[in-house]
Amino acid sequence: MEILGLNAFHGDASAALLSDGQLVAAVEEERFNRIKHWAGFPALAAKACIRGIDPASLAHVAISRDPRAHLWRKLARVAVRPGDWPRLASRARNTIQVANLASALSSSGVTRADQVRIHHVEHHRAHLASAFFASPFEEAAVVSIDGFGDFSSLMWGVGKNNRFDVHGTVRFPHSLGLFYTAFTQFLGFPKYGDEYKMMGLSAYGEPRFASQVRDVVHTTGGQVRLNLDYFIHHTEGVEMTWNDCEPSLGRVYSARLPEVFGAPRVPRSELEQRHADLAASVQAVLEEQYFEILNFVQRKTRLKKLCLAGGVALNCVANGMIFDKTPFQDVYIQAASHDAGTSIGAALYVAHQVLKQPRSFVMRHVYYGPEYTESEIRKELDDAGVQYHPLAGEELVDRTARQIADGQIVGWFQGRMEFGPRALGNRSILADPRRHDMKDILNKRIKFREPFRPFCPSVLAEATGEFFETDYPSPFMVQAYRIKPQQRERIPAVTHRDGTGRLQTVEKDVNPLYWNLIRRFGDLTGVPILINTSFNENEPIVNTPREALDCFLRTNMDVLVIGPFFLSKSENLQHSHSRASFVAEA
Ligand SMILES: [Fe+2]
Repeated sequence: MEILGLNAFHGDASAALLSDGQLVAAVEEERFNRIKHWAGFPALAAKACIRGIDPASLAHVAISRDPRAHLWRKLARVAVRPGDWPRLASRARNTIQVANLASALSSSGVTRADQVRIHHVEHHRAHLASAFFASPFEEAAVVSIDGFGDFSSLMWGVGKNNRFDVHGTVRFPHSLGLFYTAFTQFLGFPKYGDEYKMMGLSAYGEPRFASQVRDVVHTTGGQVRLNLDYFIHHTEGVEMTWNDCEPSLGRVYSARLPEVFGAPRVPRSELEQRHADLAASVQAVLEEQYFEILNFVQRKTRLKKLCLAGGVALNCVANGMIFDKTPFQDVYIQAASHDAGTSIGAALYVAHQVLKQPRSFVMRHVYYGPEYTESEIRKELDDAGVQYHPLAGEELVDRTARQIADGQIVGWFQGRMEFGPRALGNRSILADPRRHDMKDILNKRIKFREPFRPFCPSVLAEATGEFFETDYPSPFMVQAYRIKPQQRERIPAVTHRDGTGRLQTVEKDVNPLYWNLIRRFGDLTGVPILINTSFNENEPIVNTPREALDCFLRTNMDVLVIGPFFLSKSENLQHSHSRASFVAEA
């Protein structure tokens, strides 16, 4: 029996398919339509997930929104604030879309609504399910923290076997995620999902504004409380706007924020030290609140295992300190803790919490997207007329590792595409972490990112303790651990300003090809670590061979390894769109 999970009409729309309790496919719509964080109905993703299955076996569709959740609170809010009515019209449209999921399923050709049972799963319950039911734990504390979803911003409880019970919730207008978003906007990063930029910047500052920032948010007894003087989302709305279905959030902070912290930074203007100091202060206060919540949950549950999801759970700096700051001894963080992961969570919720199925699945990797056969890849390369070399197994690994060790930048396209925000070794750009200049080279030649953002390491799982102060598995790049001081000079390109690295620990049985490549690089250099950044250039991560080839030819990448085929830029200069700059640099 199959269950299709959807995150629809919401940022990072996605689909996931459970088959007899096992996750068999998951993909974001943005990977197909190439619009970052796309927020409509994920028709292409859903069709990709159900391709090849018997239509009769698709019995359930679960969406991670419940328009009825906290309905009375929402209505009460409208009753006391009639001024909100016009704005509520646009929100109502979105709600109607969610409620009319049946027609969206039928009109998009995904399935006939009269053939499936449709389930609306409250947003945070979907987050919680995405963490607990994907974890290896039989019993654990479960926590979801984000901006908002279905009128809540935090939910916690206890998971045991095939169900979890909710013990606490934080409701609108209070939100730890919104606190972080407000300062992200204030610091000139206005786009949906830009919070990670402020997190990266925070390592360059001192938290000298922390006491003022503490006036903005306070957490006690598991309840987050915003000082609403600093916000307008509760008076003027926290409306998401959709520009061709690319979401953006309107300003959420009030005039009080610049009164206290000075002029907001204009986007793309120069970054000053005070901006980094404010980012450091906000990050420090977020960590205080985060650990206050986690310690409260631990005291209440007395459990030693923790499952985490929600957008705030992508704060890898805070996640890296969980073992130092709380009594939790094991943690499972959903790889797609942002809202894309709620498609997986909604499906898992229906399987276990609604249909009472026993658990038999652990999400150990994220390779649930589309893959392409060797002949499909070869055809793309032939159609493009590029030169390539088929290489077998060890030869492919050896040559690629040698190229990276020689300072080359390699596009690495293998197997099934990753689900979630991180490329984890199947759609990755790889480079040598030993070189001091590699971060600048990557930025100058391919990624064009803000210089304060770190590049991240993939490390052989068994070598984690040699380089990092914590060796607990971090398979999804959602934890930043301190790099041992004596090792930082060996891997400068992945050592962030604060001495941490946001690492991916790679286990042999999870991704044998990628593990082999890192091991071979380690044999050659003594450092079993690669820089791993997503295979893209200001776009969603590449999905198809054609997109990978275009990105390779468009940017100043040196090598493309796509399936068993090896391409070098120097042999394909006539096809390169960026030949002049490549030649100049070469
Ligand atoms: Fe969320």
